Amino acid sequence: MRVRILGIESSCDDTAAAVAEDDIILSNITATQDIHASFGGVVPELASRAHQQNIIPVIHAALQKANIGKNQLSAVAFTRGPGLLGSLLVGTSFSKAFAMGLNIPLIETDHLQAHILAHFIRNTDRSNPVPQFPFLCLTVSGGHTQIVIVKDYFDMHIIGQTIDDAAGETFDKAAKIMGLPYPGGPVIDNLADEGNPDRFVFSKPNIPGLDFSFSGLKTSILYFLRDRLKEDEHFIENNKADLCASIQETILDILLSRLEKAASQSGIREIAIAGGVSANSGLRSKLYALKHKKKWNVYIPPLAYTTDNAAMIAIAGYFKFLRQDFSNQSAAPYARSRF
Ligand code: KG4
Ligand code: ZN
Repeated sequence: MRVRILGIESSCDDTAAAVAEDDIILSNITATQDIHASFGGVVPELASRAHQQNIIPVIHAALQKANIGKNQLSAVAFTRGPGLLGSLLVGTSFSKAFAMGLNIPLIETDHLQAHILAHFIRNTDRSNPVPQFPFLCLTVSGGHTQIVIVKDYFDMHIIGQTIDDAAGETFDKAAKIMGLPYPGGPVIDNLADEGNPDRFVFSKPNIPGLDFSFSGLKTSILYFLRDRLKEDEHFIENNKADLCASIQETILDILLSRLEKAASQSGIREIAIAGGVSANSGLRSKLYALKHKKKWNVYIPPLAYTTDNAAMIAIAGYFKFLRQDFSNQSAAPYARSRF
């Protein structure tokens, strides 16, 4: 019998629902909250209110697109954390009520594990290769930057992480400093395309091990621009593409130098990337280059599964369903990473 999972994601500013039939996605709907753009970042209270408005229409659309009635669902999977508590509460409460009403199992998923498990979503003809265990995953999002050894679906170990800002946050803050809209990652990515990545040099962290740090880079961008703007008030405008390309290059260098180190230390050549920043075209092409240079098997998610989505929650729910790993009505959201 087929397993049909409704996945619900509400950890930050995207309200999303998806339906998986076994490991294939039938529908994947996301309502992005534009309301935050004018504030230059996510406003938690506005996010939870928007989730409340969006959640029922988004779930309705996901079921309709999948052509699945709610009585055909095997279970409801939701993001329990990490994320904004007010946002998580909306998805968590809805999922509990929906599962109880339908009398089907409730499955909690970890947002960061789900970003990684998105690699196990299959094409309809199951032709896409999936990572072999153990593999390394560089998870790069707005809130997290981690290198994870994935030994099995739910046996994951963080071997490196940021000690301050996340990679996506660094893109967003750099964009804000330059007066570019939120979220800054995709905007910098686009502008960087036309720019010279070697034009400006920014500071890179010098910390041992596999951890990351981005706060020094942010300060270095801020001071550099402050000084240049004193000499030329149009400096940012006139050098936008080169600035974006150079900033992106620095962030990617920091990320990939650590990833290469993790691969050589662990001897693992199955390498994946996940999270919103894995949509970055520069990161994707540099990883392809490393694939050939280092003889890695590289796994880059389709764009739809990079930034927050519910397909990844549905697939994580599917693997938990196979293990009969169910949650109960007392599961409360958690804000910080737990695995
Ligand atoms: O995974 P995600 O959607 O949400 C979190 O779990 O945080 O990641 C959002 C982050 C934002 O910081 C956004 O600027 C960044 O991913 N991002 C990108 C790109 N697309 C999204 N960063 C760089 N290049 C992109 N193309
Ligand atoms: Zn995310």
